[in-house]
Amino acid sequence: MRLGIISALAEEQQGLVDAMESPYKLIHGQREYWVGQLWEIDAVCVLSRIGKVAAAVTTTTLVEKFGVTHILFTGVAGSGDKTIAVGDIVVAESLVQHDMDASPLFPRFEVPLTGMSHFAADHGLAMRLVDAAYAFLGSDFMDAIDADEKAVFKLTRPRIHRGLIASGDQFVNDGAHIHALNAALPGLVAVEMEGAAVAQVCYELGVPCAVIRTISDNANENAAIDFMRFVKSVAARYAYYIVRRFCLQDGGGVDKDQASSESAGT
Ligand code: ADE
Repeated sequence: MRLGIISALAEEQQGLVDAMESPYKLIHGQREYWVGQLWEIDAVCVLSRIGKVAAAVTTTTLVEKFGVTHILFTGVAGSGDKTIAVGDIVVAESLVQHDMDASPLFPRFEVPLTGMSHFAADHGLAMRLVDAAYAFLGSDFMDAIDADEKAVFKLTRPRIHRGLIASGDQFVNDGAHIHALNAALPGLVAVEMEGAAVAQVCYELGVPCAVIRTISDNANENAAIDFMRFVKSVAARYAYYIVRRFCLQDGGGVDKDQASSESAGT
């Protein structure tokens, strides 16, 4: 496996780059690709920046130039359903571009000339992410997130959801808009700005991908309040620990910190 890990914001990526062994940086197409090992897995970490085009070109480069065999996208998203709260984790089963609309020539949401609106995430990768997220919530969450931040964002018992993630070139901050998207897209769990582009490119290039997002807001009029604080103090921690758990599950992965502290204690 050579794992490509895409994040949209620098704060979400920094912990992973810091954890890389023998990292080196390659610049291509105005992006920095960090190549190295993450818990013994060959990995390439990159910031896509924001939006579907940015994500699509980054994904294509990861596959075509860096030879990644699997892709993960980690980041934040707005809640797509009233049962899903800030601090919850969503893992995509499938992804759709909510701003794709070539009707009446093609059905709303369908990507013209593909016959498809929903692009599936790889089931095996998605389940590994779900397992990693459960391990994170069960073991790491308590200590990984500062108590003040838990209180500010009312993070009591975060939950994990699987379902449809919708991407568009819009930061959704309008209650009526998110309500309409929820009604138009059954199974919607979250809205963000990159995942469906990554999924379409991966489908076209035959590379398995998965998308995991921490819910940062309710996609309503309050969505931008404390957004960057949440990314830095909560979502960045989630991404680091979940990717760590994901890599360590691989069998080959050895957690050196953990191994040395365990042997030191015996
Ligand atoms: N990412 C995080 N919150 C979002 C929102 N409300 N809309 C689009 N992308 C997001």
